[in-house]
Amino acid sequence: MLIAQISDTHILARASEYPAAQLRADCLRDCVADINLQRPDAVIFTGDTVQHGQPDEYARLRDLLAPLQAPLYMIPGNRDDKSALRRVFDDIPFPSDGEFLHYTVEGHDHRLVAIDSTSPGERKGVFCAERQAWLEKTLSDQPDRATLLFIHHPPFDIDDHYIGGYRRPEEAAALEAVVSRHSQVEAMLCGHVHCPVRRDWAGTLASVMPSVAVDVRKGVDEAEAREAPIYMLHRLSDATGIVSDTRMIR
Ligand SMILES: [Fe+2]
Repeated sequence: MLIAQISDTHILARASEYPAAQLRADCLRDCVADINLQRPDAVIFTGDTVQHGQPDEYARLRDLLAPLQAPLYMIPGNRDDKSALRRVFDDIPFPSDGEFLHYTVEGHDHRLVAIDSTSPGERKGVFCAERQAWLEKTLSDQPDRATLLFIHHPPFDIDDHYIGGYRRPEEAAALEAVVSRHSQVEAMLCGHVHCPVRRDWAGTLASVMPSVAVDVRKGVDEAEAREAPIYMLHRLSDATGIVSDTRMIR
């Protein structure tokens, strides 16, 4: 199974005078075009889709994503407005009501599990008792099916710029404990910190991708990538597990 991942596009409205607004939109447009050439089975979007959660930003995002040919699965970041996501992306299998935008996707070779780590007005990650119970039950339901998780907030510290990324440290520990109990989890894809990270975590592999938004991207060679569109391709198979490439266009 081939999965493309995009993250942290932080799209601004067409009328925005923010200097990087057009560059961010151009990068996403180029990523979408290249993703279509790769013909993935699915596209996973790990949140912070827009900058301020505003309707005119979501309208622009919707237009930029419209050419995607593969099915798109999205989760919110702390910058997103959950009710707007539900309304604008009504083809994504979000729950029709309730506070959490978590769900599963069952129609592919690998089972996909979308985890919502956001809470309105909260910048940090949240993984409350209700979400812990949902994930425990969801993973217990199909223990023998290879599974890929995706979430916005990485539940571990990264260098010196992302420390204590969850509102309560015990919630990040609870996420690690739930995933540790389910060996069918092959990887967890994350966003939020805007830099590339790949590490062992909870008995599986955690991967964080650099932001599509070039002006807030970190940890990627500046000279080579200052204005380059970047996304990730993840190949999953029983033989190799997950093999990931960072696609830098141009
Ligand atoms: Fe972000």
